[in-house]
Amino acid sequence: MSRISVTAIAAAAWLGLGVAGSALAQDMAAGKAVFASNCAVCHQANGQGQDGLAPALTTYPGRYAGTDAGRKLLAHVVLNGMIGAIENGGKQYNGNMPNFRALSDAELADVLTYIAIGLPGVGTTGGKPFTAEEVKAVRAPAIAPTEIRRQRADVVKEAGL
Ligand code: HEC
Repeated sequence: MSRISVTAIAAAAWLGLGVAGSALAQDMAAGKAVFASNCAVCHQANGQGQDGLAPALTTYPGRYAGTDAGRKLLAHVVLNGMIGAIENGGKQYNGNMPNFRALSDAELADVLTYIAIGLPGVGTTGGKPFTAEEVKAVRAPAIAPTEIRRQRADVVKEAGL
């Protein structure tokens, strides 16, 4: 094999990685923007939460974004909202999170990718980027926000949190 073709193969491999890497970077930047305009008002700019108002997103979601049930729950939370008493990191919340059904599947996938693996200091366990298809698959039917809270209890328990 000539020196030139080895270099060409190496360059092609490098470009391939670059393209895949930049697609994730783009989704993450888009997710960060969706987060800033829709979620930060309650969960704060870096997802650190506000005592008594909205839980931190830097610990729990990243921990359960690695399981099928946890990923479905995250999509359900943004599509349906959540109402009722929960515990997050030893703190109690009893809030009413609105739903974000008005956002597109791609926007919701991007914001979930951002909170699952992109927030500063996120405690990720096996989380991977979300796809628009994953959100689309659970968009219908709408589910009561109190039922989402019940599903969260199962997921949190299974994740050992
Ligand atoms: C109006 C305030 C508000 C906004 C805006 C908001 N949330 Fe929430 N969020 C909450 C509250 C309150 C809870 C806890 C609900 C409960 O007590 O049952 C919550 C819970 C969550 C949870 C579950 C956390 C856990 O511990 O399992 C996730 C994930 C989440 N929100 C993501 C988001 C995302 C993503 C957005 C933006 C698209 C968003 N939230 C916008 C108030 C908000």
